[in-house]
Amino acid sequence: MAEAALPATLAPILRPRRLRATPAMRRLVSETSVAPRQLILPMFIREGGGADPTPISSMPGVVQHSLESFRVALAEAAAVGIGGVMLFGVPEHKDATGSGATDRDGILNLATRIAVAEVGDALVVQTDLCLDEFTDHGHCGVLDSNGRVDNDATLVRYREMALVQAASGSQLLGLSGMMDGQVAAVREVLDAESFTDTAILAYSAKYASAFYGPFREAVQSTLTGDRRAYQLDAGNGREGVREVLLDIAEGADVVMVKPAMSYLDLVSQVAQISNIPVWAYQVSGEYSMIEAAAELGWIDRRRAIEESLTSIKRAGADAILSYWAVEAAHWFRNTN
Ligand code: PBG
Repeated sequence: MAEAALPATLAPILRPRRLRATPAMRRLVSETSVAPRQLILPMFIREGGGADPTPISSMPGVVQHSLESFRVALAEAAAVGIGGVMLFGVPEHKDATGSGATDRDGILNLATRIAVAEVGDALVVQTDLCLDEFTDHGHCGVLDSNGRVDNDATLVRYREMALVQAASGSQLLGLSGMMDGQVAAVREVLDAESFTDTAILAYSAKYASAFYGPFREAVQSTLTGDRRAYQLDAGNGREGVREVLLDIAEGADVVMVKPAMSYLDLVSQVAQISNIPVWAYQVSGEYSMIEAAAELGWIDRRRAIEESLTSIKRAGADAILSYWAVEAAHWFRNTN
């Protein structure tokens, strides 16, 4: 038989639900918001082809831009007030040393000059500094005679890339290759060549992740095998923190944790120890999972996207790279 009333001794004195009772109260006590300025849009720019962008089937809604569609998307990004764009080039030709990366008229450097000219005052124009989009073997560096990624030979290539990207006007170089000593090596050559104002975003705690899967299609990667000999092991939190501390010591301006959602503990730890901004990258697989589940009607797309971004922010990220940056900025603009 059901009891008529709760015994007086069990009636709660502390009632947290008071602060959740009405939309106005919830809005007032909300601890975390994401502002448009804290979102960065990764963009793919394709070399050659016609005026139409090329869809990326594993990332519905994301495209490889033509130069025409790139210009339109840049204007939209600037209009909604996001913080910046991160550019990735998709070259027509790849080779062993990734020579397209250091060609001043290569697609990434060309796209950088366009972005700086069109929106360089409104947005921070950022570039991926890594060889994988440009190498025929798909690795982030050059290979030695045994087929292994040669750390120090790769640093020489990164220094060359850094100078071409800085000269193209990139304001923040995204060092995503996970080579030892890459931040110090790039900082030294930038300073020696008077690019003292070009900032470095270090992809410090970058994990060897299955969640980069759709990105491989996005940049038409030819990688066989994996990146476990340079990217971090999923189980190693302490080692991720070590990488962050090394990059700060080497002169990084911003550090990053990547992917975001499966590594929120890292975002939180790094936010506590870092004295420079901490960003997180909501990667391609995080995007595609939500899009796919939403497409099937299994989750509420907008709520899932907002929740994912809010949780990355709550964990401690100061800014987030997200393929939803522009769409989410429209949503968050009204609530912030
Ligand atoms: C390397 C790079 C990768 C991503 C960003 N920069 C691929 C990798 O390390 O395998 C992945 C981003 C994503 O999955 O959205 N240039």
